[in-house]
Amino acid sequence: MAILITGASGVVGSHVVRQLLEIGQGVVAADMLPGRGPILDGIPALAYRRLDICDLAQVMEMFAAVKPDRVIHLAALVGEWYTEGLADCLAQMRA
Ligand SMILES: NC(=O)c1ccc[n+]([C@@H]2O[C@H](COP(=O)([O-])OP(=O)(O)OC[C@H]3O[C@@H](n4cnc5c(N)ncnc54)[C@H](O)[C@@H]3O)[C@@H](O)[C@H]2O)c1
Repeated sequence: MAILITGASGVVGSHVVRQLLEIGQGVVAADMLPGRGPILDGIPALAYRRLDICDLAQVMEMFAAVKPDRVIHLAALVGEWYTEGLADCLAQMRA
């Protein structure tokens, strides 16, 4: 079973990835950052994919390629309100 984790380079995501791998869970880590971040850099064998969750085409491509059984969605712009961008993103996903 593959679990896709968005926001995988973030504070919460990177620890979730590490802990799932420790129990033998198949994981695909995804984040919009070009680099994996300090915690994921220590796991060279990890499947890491760059993904902007607000880009619907990228999301569809990712689901087709990874075929995840579960998604843990942790991608977020923490600390600020981006309601306009979020509304656009949701509208695209509904279309
Ligand atoms: N850190 C905490 O203590 C805490 C506590 C409770 C809830 N949360 C929630 O957990 C979630 C993650 O928090 P965090 O502290 O790990 O934040 P973080 O900022 O460390 O991580 C968020 C990650 O999401 C990525 N991201 C942002 N926009 C993206 C996009 N469009 N596409 C793909 N990736 C994108 C960022 O690059 C970043 O790596 C948030 O919803 C937050 O509210 C966090």
